[in-house]
Amino acid sequence: MAWALLGLSLMGAARAESLQVLHWLTSASERKAVNSLVTRLAADNIEWRDAAIPGGAGVGASKVMKSRVLAGNSPEAMQLIGFSLVEWAELGLLLQLDGVAASGNWGAQMYPTAWAQLQNRGHVMAAPLGIHRINTLFYNRKVFNRLGLLPPKTWAEFERVAAQLKQGGVTPLAQSAEAWQVATLFETLVLAEGGPAYYRELFVQMSPAAFADARLLRALTRLKSLKQWMPQPLRERPWSEAARQFADGEAGMFIMGDWVKGELNAWGIATDDGFGCVAVPETANYHLYSIDTLAMFAADYKHQAAQEKLAQVVTAAPAQFEYNQIKGSISVLRGADQSKMDSCARASAQAFGRGAAQQAPSFVHRMATDEASKDAIIAEVQRFFIGDQVSAADTQRRIGAMVQALTKQGKGRGNGT
Ligand code: GAL
Repeated sequence: MAWALLGLSLMGAARAESLQVLHWLTSASERKAVNSLVTRLAADNIEWRDAAIPGGAGVGASKVMKSRVLAGNSPEAMQLIGFSLVEWAELGLLLQLDGVAASGNWGAQMYPTAWAQLQNRGHVMAAPLGIHRINTLFYNRKVFNRLGLLPPKTWAEFERVAAQLKQGGVTPLAQSAEAWQVATLFETLVLAEGGPAYYRELFVQMSPAAFADARLLRALTRLKSLKQWMPQPLRERPWSEAARQFADGEAGMFIMGDWVKGELNAWGIATDDGFGCVAVPETANYHLYSIDTLAMFAADYKHQAAQEKLAQVVTAAPAQFEYNQIKGSISVLRGADQSKMDSCARASAQAFGRGAAQQAPSFVHRMATDEASKDAIIAEVQRFFIGDQVSAADTQRRIGAMVQALTKQGKGRGNGT
């Protein structure tokens, strides 16, 4: 009898424990990056059961997760980032990872901003994957060389370069009409116009005065005027399709988060060979960030040991290095070796390393404000961008009024308040 029991428990120890992970990392590079983690976990006898929901910025994945949780069928882990992490943590459904964080010395190892992202009410609620830089302008090197162009540093230079690209028969700026992608461009324009302090007044503090400010009007006006340089008709399509058009030389530039770099690399196009990346004009010192994090659903705590292992594995230095190199982001660990990074990652690490005053939390990617306010602003920005009837001034008034209404309802609470 005793022997039989021992045999059973040995079998149990050998059997891989499996964790289902819900996420939206579905493009070629994203899948490759995920696979690097899957392999490392397998070495620790943990099987990553993939529940990947396509849809950039997690628009689809967030909906699927909500309905699964309501149906009592939550995954063991989920890509939950920024304010959505806070909102789920507040419901008391997530596993606290304080022990893993303490034994890995996360507080000392990670950039303070990344470390702060993980906290809620004094507890660590997620394991970070990497830091993306959103204010990135990609330029197609073949096209630029052929036409004798240099990447623009100012908006005046951007206009000149765009006009020359158009003359050369190339669409100047790749873009999709998807709401989150339009808004991602818009938030970089706000940063260019007002810098990180103004950006925070708007999207973190949600200050009514900031919403009435002329800088918001100028960012909206620039967004609309950039349309002249984009493909016509402008269609809603995944970011990776816009990246493909850029890679093929049909478009000369692309403004998007640096996950595009990972994707181009995954297609065999090397950084500084087929393309280069610089900061979006007039944002060179700033870092508009999105930090990806994985949270664990506590459920009945049956999977706690494996979930803690997952958190430990993805935050260890070798996993961080490999994953972020593939994904296009940078490690959350401060000591990462910059000499091993390509020029885009190095510029990102340097800008992020300048500290909080130069950093801006991406509102589109959930770093700055609650889901309801974020979605409302994104929808309004897209409506303005797509249609030709709505003026920039009207859009500014509408966004301002909407944000005030949401703030009164107790929503619209920013990270910094
Ligand atoms: C962001 C996320 C990135 C990337 C991007 C496009 O929210 O931080 O990792 O997945 O969406 O889907």
